[in-house]
Amino acid sequence: MKDSLKPDHIMQLGLGFWGSKTLLSAIELDVFTHLGEKPLMLDSLKERLDLHGRSAHDFFDALVALGLLHKNDGHYSNTPETGHFLNKSKPSYIGGMLEMANHRLYRFWGDLTEGLKTGQPQNEMKHGEPGLFEAIYSDPNKLEGFLKAMTGLSMAANVEVARKFPFDNYQTHIDIGGAQGGLPVQVALVHPHITGGNFDLPVVQPVFEEYVQSFHLQDRLKFVPGNFFEDDLPRADVISMGHILHDWNQEEKEMLIGKAYDALPKGGALIVLEALIDDARRENAFGLLMSLNMLIETPGGFDFTGADCCGWMKKAGFKKTEVVHLVGPDSMVIGIK
Ligand SMILES: C[S@@+](CC[C@H](N)C(=O)[O-])C[C@H]1O[C@@H](n2cnc3c(N)ncnc32)[C@H](O)[C@@H]1O
Repeated sequence: MKDSLKPDHIMQLGLGFWGSKTLLSAIELDVFTHLGEKPLMLDSLKERLDLHGRSAHDFFDALVALGLLHKNDGHYSNTPETGHFLNKSKPSYIGGMLEMANHRLYRFWGDLTEGLKTGQPQNEMKHGEPGLFEAIYSDPNKLEGFLKAMTGLSMAANVEVARKFPFDNYQTHIDIGGAQGGLPVQVALVHPHITGGNFDLPVVQPVFEEYVQSFHLQDRLKFVPGNFFEDDLPRADVISMGHILHDWNQEEKEMLIGKAYDALPKGGALIVLEALIDDARRENAFGLLMSLNMLIETPGGFDFTGADCCGWMKKAGFKKTEVVHLVGPDSMVIGIK
């Protein structure tokens, strides 16, 4: 064996689920919320979380070693990041997506090999239970949790869309499948002349309206109930779809892009926001893994490159297309009619 070869990267990745599950369990146990009140010693923390004595010390020190907690004079406390993003009593909490990862995806990814062999989803559907949206949408608590999780997950990219897209040239904006309303709210906050809203399944309406009201934007942002497989999309100068197209197969993706084209005026814009895979398909690991997640979660969904999306837009009739990087793995594709 060559001396210069090291197995570290392989081993770190191969056992990466140890660290991942340690974080997910810490969120499940509300470690960061308890420590949001005040720093705590091992025994008080163990007692509050009702943990067995055997591994509590290792668990908290592992969180320190993973950069998720600080420890000073025997007192554990949150880092600035975990205190901001993982304390459930703060509006900046973004752990909803990770709670979902803990309850559902962690188990389902255990069957990735089977998914790769069969091409079939490996979530609830595999056991004859309703699919992702049906399972979540039949329970109001799960629904609200999921929609909030989406807001947290997409917030940084939504802020960048509001900043980088030239909304000054347009008057109206509708987000398709906008969930709680994270994107329309960010756009409306930055651009006071814009009106519009969110087209989504009817059950989403109360969660959207409560969120919009919390920003006093209810006069400018309305909910349009509908189903994008059955209904035409509402007309607007700008139509956006954030993390929508990757849920569906190619035919469905092209159908949705076509519906957006029909609903736009000449000169109007479609914004597709996703964790786009780089065109060479070799760098954006998050986008590629997200696509494997679509294998686990959906019958035909997959993520795609900017070039793929520009091709579908051109085929639908869009005159001009452009790919703009937003933040982290997220980019937007803009199509002008
Ligand atoms: C993955 S979430 C994306 C949420 C948000 N756009 C974001 O980027 O955070 C998918 C959204 O599509 C909506 N949706 C799913 N099926 C739909 C349908 N048939 N018609 C309209 N909306 C639908 C869901 O309710 C949900 O809000």
